[in-house]
Amino acid sequence: MDYLEITGQAKLSGSITISGAKNAALPVIAATILSDKPLTLTNLPNVVDIRTLLKLLDMLGGEVDHQGIVARIDNGAMNSTKAVYEIVSQMRASILVLGPLLTRFGECEVSLPGGCAIGQRPIDLHLKALEAMGAKIEIKGGYVRAEAPNGLHGAKIIFDKITVGGTENVLMAAAMAHGTTEIINAAREPEIVQLCDMLVAAGVAVEGIGTGTITVQGTGGKTLEWREPVEIIPDRIEAGTYLCAGAITYSQITLEKVNIEHIQAMIDKLESMGCQFTIGEESITIHPPKKLRPVNIITTEYPGFPTDMQAQFMAVATIVEGESLIEERLFENRFMHVSELNRLGADIWLKGNTAAVKGVEALYAADVMATDLRASSALVLGALAAKGVTKVRRIYHLDRGYDDLEGKLAKLGAQIQRKSE
Ligand code: EPZ
Repeated sequence: MDYLEITGQAKLSGSITISGAKNAALPVIAATILSDKPLTLTNLPNVVDIRTLLKLLDMLGGEVDHQGIVARIDNGAMNSTKAVYEIVSQMRASILVLGPLLTRFGECEVSLPGGCAIGQRPIDLHLKALEAMGAKIEIKGGYVRAEAPNGLHGAKIIFDKITVGGTENVLMAAAMAHGTTEIINAAREPEIVQLCDMLVAAGVAVEGIGTGTITVQGTGGKTLEWREPVEIIPDRIEAGTYLCAGAITYSQITLEKVNIEHIQAMIDKLESMGCQFTIGEESITIHPPKKLRPVNIITTEYPGFPTDMQAQFMAVATIVEGESLIEERLFENRFMHVSELNRLGADIWLKGNTAAVKGVEALYAADVMATDLRASSALVLGALAAKGVTKVRRIYHLDRGYDDLEGKLAKLGAQIQRKSE
């Protein structure tokens, strides 16, 4: 199994380019099911989750030509509507095929994703919304079986809780439904905006994009006509992770191809810790201070501070003199990195959904184990700052969502190597 060997305390410098966003690319790939015409996607990140979803399309009878950061997808001959356990169990986001398969084919079966390392992660809100649009849904044998033989109809969907995946599934279902769907308490993440823009480019009338109320005029069962390639937006979480790499190593580094607006919440927190920034149109350089200050963070939906950056900021806080408080409001169990960071010598106490991080003078290398995607990147950050040689194991989590993490960090001067044992 592969692991990363990192010799800490190297100063970083130089610049790297941020890849396309995994969490934007996944719904865009699922949305290709809404058409029987080919579509080209560009700026895809080279990560396992993308390959997994493309494999699922292939298993459903789609034709996928994937070369590096470009994929041409043709779902004209799609002839299966069953997303099997073997794929869905590898990646929860496979649930995103539920809305598009159901609205295009009038039936589908998608394996229930189950829980994961960061929490229970139910899909009840996705199912309730599709039922409101006329779907008949039963759960049998570990599968969601959904039917709408005459197609879905528009409905007013009020989400009790803001859900990114739920909003995406409803947007895709609504695009081919009969009539108008109104989504109240919709997610406002940039990844949602990209999906809406893709639907608009295909002629679907979508209003309220980027707000909490989105309306979609369905095509009444007509498949969509793509008119132009879709370029995936930059990955704001990857960008935030590298800004944390600059901060934790007290290094000046530059990121190219970022969307500054999408990373504002991270910039604000790093500024409150004493970092300064030089900001270009699509680039950002971090200038850490001589001494970072502690930070208080509450995770929330966009445009607030993202849960996907909680672990990385916690890693930075471990070496900052004073106490930082980090409250996780989205997922009940997203603290698996705490005990691993403590193995590196951090001083973190958990009480309910809040972590109190008391800064220590230095972290010390140890063997640590990745537990989920973002927890893994927090361990890599800790290792970059630690004295000695850290081994980060179970890095298949990292490979799911970070494009060439060790290559990019090595380009910045980190002493990092992938090894096998
Ligand atoms: C997306 O997950 C992201 N994944 C996650 O990123 C991210 O952490 C999360 O949004 C929040 O920003 C992708 O985009 C592929 P949610 P998603 O539905 O859509 C509860 C990463 O590291 N909920 O917005 O699954 C849920 O349990 C990943 O890249 C229900 O109760 O998240 C959570 O508490 C991890 N019922 C909250 O809502 C539902 O039916 C928000 O979840 C759906 C969600």
